[in-house]
Amino acid sequence: MDVRKVVIPVAGWGTRSLPATKNVPKEILPVFRKPSIQYIVEEAIASGLSDVVFVNTQNKRIIEDHFDHNLALEQLLERKGLTALLNEVRSVARMANIIVVRQKEQLGLGHAVMCAKEVIKDEPFAVMVGDDLMFNRNPGINQLIQVYKNERMPVVGVMEVPRDKVSRYGIIDAEEFAPGLYRIRGVEEKPAVDKAPSRLALVGRYVLTPEIFTHLDTVSADGAGEIQLTDALQALARKNRLLAVKVHGQRFDVGDWVDYLTANIYFALQDENLRYDLIDRLRELIPPAR
Ligand code: UTP
Repeated sequence: MDVRKVVIPVAGWGTRSLPATKNVPKEILPVFRKPSIQYIVEEAIASGLSDVVFVNTQNKRIIEDHFDHNLALEQLLERKGLTALLNEVRSVARMANIIVVRQKEQLGLGHAVMCAKEVIKDEPFAVMVGDDLMFNRNPGINQLIQVYKNERMPVVGVMEVPRDKVSRYGIIDAEEFAPGLYRIRGVEEKPAVDKAPSRLALVGRYVLTPEIFTHLDTVSADGAGEIQLTDALQALARKNRLLAVKVHGQRFDVGDWVDYLTANIYFALQDENLRYDLIDRLRELIPPAR
């Protein structure tokens, strides 16, 4: 069966991005001209996924509203003859079939994925973490879907991270069986630098099968009270049922200020009307070398 559905958890508190995220969801913070979550949905659609399942919470409904029509605004743009903007605004509402499920308590990524169980039923599905942006001609999640189609096994996306950053990620212990493709022996959540089995980090892209729900059911909460997806992945790895693919592309974590600001500049630099003015302004900000 083909992968049609994507679960996008967006219910987190976004504490790293406070105070910006006091009332505005992290996923709505703009990256250049669009809310960051729009890039994620666009990546899903470009990869052939049609049904987007947001796992959301009651105070972040603005996320699903962004993918709905704003009829008053559309009428205004039509009256004013702002056709390009009208088409752009409309296309966001027509982009995907949006399904929303609630995570009533923020009990971690594993718990968020579990909340989508009834919608997923017995199909393979993608998971894209709502604050990890990836850009490449072959979209990030599509790189995993291609592996899934060949291997018919759950696949996680990994990228190599610098040694001093391994303790921020889930890190895999794996054997490479083809270039950039790994059979996973184990996964460790945020290991100490000297204990990390590799520098290959989980980067918020997964293709899973309903088998994961059985494992999530048995995972107990960690010290912070969260159900970690990594623990359920570990159970798959122990049964030799988990692959990884090294994802190619630029990645930005919206919850990290350096990444967030860099993502804005990355896109602005691709806009021919802005590029040179932006470079001039940035030059003004950098103190001259002594
Ligand atoms: P993060 O690990 O970035 O957590 O979640 P967070 O709570 O949003 O942000 P910080 O770390 O406090 O700054 C990764 C993605 O998973 C979602 C988040 O909305 C984010 O898109 N998430 C996280 C949930 O949906 N539910 C949770 O319980 C936790």
